[in-house]
Amino acid sequence: MRRPLVAGNWKMNGSREMTEILVSGIGSGLPESDAVDVVVCPPFVYLDLCSATAGGTPIAMGAQDLDIHEPGAFTGAIAADMLVDIGCEFVILGHSERRSLYAESDADVGVKASVAAAKGLTPIICVGETREERESNVTADVVCRQLDAVIDGAGIDIFPRALVAYEPVWAIGTGLTATDEQAQEVHSLIRQRIADASGQAAEGTRILYGGSVKPDNAAGLFSQPDIDGGLIGGASLKAADFLGIIEAAIP
Ligand code: PGA
Repeated sequence: MRRPLVAGNWKMNGSREMTEILVSGIGSGLPESDAVDVVVCPPFVYLDLCSATAGGTPIAMGAQDLDIHEPGAFTGAIAADMLVDIGCEFVILGHSERRSLYAESDADVGVKASVAAAKGLTPIICVGETREERESNVTADVVCRQLDAVIDGAGIDIFPRALVAYEPVWAIGTGLTATDEQAQEVHSLIRQRIADASGQAAEGTRILYGGSVKPDNAAGLFSQPDIDGGLIGGASLKAADFLGIIEAAIP
């Protein structure tokens, strides 16, 4: 049985004040059941405050990206060692915004996943098709290509510890959500693709769904056999909404 996980991707949102209010609001409102792993991923500059505010709660922390190099002369970059040092356990990699706005390639994501795993961070690897790709019936090709680049670049051994997040690009921040069946179809494909390399890895890998998840659509998505939780954008910025989604993930 895979343990569900709900992660909040704050993207480039927040402030010191919001970090304190949101993280303490989540911490004090967590359900009694500890059957769900909860992760928040604020911008780099708020990680330290997030960690201090989350102290003593089961909330784990993740970053939204990393640089593949060892610390050194890379102006503006953040090394994996620094993320570990500040208390991150997770790191989101290959988010569609990084792929489209910052030109991250499939191969880049594979290298980042390899570095993250080597440094003891748990990667949350995002994959997903654009609307045009879905309409052209190439969803499976795109998702498999993105996943294969990670398996090739980082090795199958990063699973089942690493997570995959299926985030159809057309559903991110749009209010459009994949139906439970559409999401399950792709999640099952992702699991099969991992199984082609290792059945054991596939069985244990948690595959999150992301894209306009809200408290009122979360339960249906999370009840699908291959959906093991969610990667939440907009709804992770309000404690009540995020907590509602966490509740929906309790098995
Ligand atoms: P959304 O974002 O929940 O606001 O659609 C999800 C994500 O981009 O991770």
